[in-house]
Amino acid sequence: MRIVVLTGAGISAESGLATFRDPGGLWQRHRPQDLATPEAFARDPDLVLGWYDARRAQLADVAPNAAHHALARLDAAWPHDFLLVTQNVDDLHARAGARRMVQMHGALKQARCEGCGAVHEWAGPMPRATPCPACGAARLRPNIVWFGEMPMHMRRIEAALEAADVFVAIGTSGTVYPAAGFVEALRPGARSLELNLEPSAVAHRFSETRQGPATTLVPALVEELLRG
Ligand code: APR
Repeated sequence: MRIVVLTGAGISAESGLATFRDPGGLWQRHRPQDLATPEAFARDPDLVLGWYDARRAQLADVAPNAAHHALARLDAAWPHDFLLVTQNVDDLHARAGARRMVQMHGALKQARCEGCGAVHEWAGPMPRATPCPACGAARLRPNIVWFGEMPMHMRRIEAALEAADVFVAIGTSGTVYPAAGFVEALRPGARSLELNLEPSAVAHRFSETRQGPATTLVPALVEELLRG
């Protein structure tokens, strides 16, 4: 049985990271067009770099929660195809030990050179005009997918979705494509579950929805799957 799991900001909420669209969320306090678009970066690179520096620094103060650990357990124990697709740019899935995982919106702790394309692990601040460690050009940016840019790893994700027998969406509002459309890419007969505090915008597309916090629902689902 082949499994694909999609996660959104809701899986990291109980670790203390703000989501985007919940009350008090990041997009309740900032405008995406001011911080998460190529135009914003061109217009005010210091503002954009400073915002990502702050979000990157916050990762030191949070830890994976029971939901991240449960998915890492499933990844390690599942003897068939498994892919964890996260929209999150935090490092909590990786720190929980996820292996078969792709970050389709990039990662806070990576920098990408717009000159040579090299991607570098990046833990600290990224001031403007930081030279690329590979080519020396002062053209580093956060390796984050901004609005209007192509998500990453889409060919691998699409192949996994077409083959999936079970698709689980966890903690995502179902408002941003292409991730919100993944449930519609499944073959007929595949089982789809949505785990969320409340029904997402695409809840009606799922064969089953469960309401509750990820730290309760995800470990329970993983035990069900591993028990067979
Ligand atoms: N347990 C489960 N679900 C939760 C929890 C929780 N403890 N807390 C919040 N949620 C759910 C909310 O109900 C909501 O459906 O998580 C979802 C968060 O939705 P968003 O804030 O829209 O986050 P996400 O769906 O990941 O956003 C998608 O939008 O801005 C872009 O690139 C950004 O990757 C992000 C994308």
